Amino acid sequence: SAASDVYKRQELIRAAFKARSFAYTPYSHFKVGAALLAKNGMVYTGCNIENAGYTPTNCAERTALFKAVSEGVREFDAIAIVGSKVGEKNTLVTGPCGVCRQVMTEFCRPDEFRIILEDGRGGFITCLLEELLPMGFCPKNLGKEE
Ligand code: THU
Repeated sequence: SAASDVYKRQELIRAAFKARSFAYTPYSHFKVGAALLAKNGMVYTGCNIENAGYTPTNCAERTALFKAVSEGVREFDAIAIVGSKVGEKNTLVTGPCGVCRQVMTEFCRPDEFRIILEDGRGGFITCLLEELLPMGFCPKNLGKEE
């Protein structure tokens, strides 16, 4: 039902906030948490992990995706993402970066996978991967069917 969908999305946001508390961000102080819901019901969380070399930094979304894939799970329904600078209130939604969108499209159906973004006002907005990555280059382009 619509009500249980809202409830599940709020639970995912809550898990993303918890994951955000583990973010390692000595350089940007911008902490992100993600909670990825697999089709089997499991939730994989992730945080961003920065690095003195800057480019090795891993985003929260990819941390969550790679945790799941590395445990044999490749089918997903949704991901919740929350982000804000330490000590500041979030005013903008934290949308996934382009690299994370590309990693999502490797494993998630663009017309089904839901991205849930906390709005900083106690609510959230949701969209589909196809809205954030139209005409994405995906496994189908290389002849791989799901
Ligand atoms: N970051 C994420 O973890 N996910 C996003 O969706 C946006 C950016 C991280 C990377 C870096 O540690 C910090 O936020 C600032 O770019």
